[in-house]
Amino acid sequence: MRTIGNKDYEFGDEIRLWSAFVHEDAIRAVAETLRSGWINTGKKEKELREKVMKKWGFPYCVACNTGTAALRTALAVLGIGPGDEVVSTPYTFIATNTAILEQGARPVFADINYDDLNINPQSTEKQITPKTKAIMIVHYGGNPCDLDEIRAIGKRHKLPVIEDAAHAMGSKYKGNYIGSTGDIICFSLQVVKIITSGDGGLISTTREDWYQELKKTIWYGIDRDAKRNNLLDPLPDNFKGDTLGFKYNMNDIAASLASANIDHFDEAIGRRREVGEKYRRELAGCKKIKLMNYKPDREPSYQIFPIHVRDRQKFAEHMWKHKIMVNVNNRRNDMYPMFGGLRNDLPNLKRAEEDVILLPINYDLTDGQVDHVIEVMKDYDNM
Ligand SMILES: Cc1ncc(COP(=O)(O)O)c(C=O)c1O
Repeated sequence: MRTIGNKDYEFGDEIRLWSAFVHEDAIRAVAETLRSGWINTGKKEKELREKVMKKWGFPYCVACNTGTAALRTALAVLGIGPGDEVVSTPYTFIATNTAILEQGARPVFADINYDDLNINPQSTEKQITPKTKAIMIVHYGGNPCDLDEIRAIGKRHKLPVIEDAAHAMGSKYKGNYIGSTGDIICFSLQVVKIITSGDGGLISTTREDWYQELKKTIWYGIDRDAKRNNLLDPLPDNFKGDTLGFKYNMNDIAASLASANIDHFDEAIGRRREVGEKYRRELAGCKKIKLMNYKPDREPSYQIFPIHVRDRQKFAEHMWKHKIMVNVNNRRNDMYPMFGGLRNDLPNLKRAEEDVILLPINYDLTDGQVDHVIEVMKDYDNM
């Protein structure tokens, strides 16, 4: 039982926000790998990287064991460490910003756009100081950020832009897939993402020199592709052990799960798009509900479906009463003391913190369930 307001709700048969997309082919692929005699990082991991490079136009790709690891690795390769600042978004899952802390650096929060929850370019530029070493953005819900504006700021101040694209696999900005352009772009393959490997991450970059460092940094600083001439030494000849790397590589069990799921990506994202577009059509006229702004030059992935709602507590009680799971995905990160304290100068963040909530969106929703969600929301609107 869970208490919301003064009522108790049973978990179990409600319409769920999330589901895990695991295709039967993926189950077979994992079993095959388990029987193959090689389950460490190997040809399945390579196959996964080659597949995503081809499918989404990533120029270079590194696979790792979580999206958080991908973010930390990106920061490490850019040389971000103690004393450095990274201008970042406060409206995200904490992983975006804990990765910065893990590197000993400090996230400095910019305000967001109220209408899409993405980092605001003007506010981003205002947070830049001589200590700033990078800009971190999140394509929130898979709805791409104002990339042209943010990249122009990066260029002006000679700062790389790291894109946390945990929500944005298959999203497009001005006709290009997220990950096919930009500096360093990090994806998550965690369980509720459109494509999962159980847990996992992918890093795309357009720069060969960064790629070389990224692929070493995820594995103790060792270059897996380098030659080994010495029969007795398990490490390649060019490993000097002079820089610290991590143990973030993806194994072949995880890679075969993701790789087989990606073969069914269009089906997985297609269902989300049907649901997302139906919500947008049906809820556009509601008085108490405001949809996100999906700009016409972008294609969202609908990893999640956030909305603004009037009187959020009452709305949540109404939805749960009708067995529809809703919740707040993320809290403003500056409310957590580890990030340095609450900011009073981020007005759009303040508004969003008070009225954003997620609607169910996942591959397994039936048409009947989607209609039920819409009907119950229209009821709320007319209350
Ligand atoms: C925006 C965002 N960034 C980073 C992450 C971390 O990804 P992972 O769970 O793969 O470490 C998540 C996970 O949900 C996320 O939503």
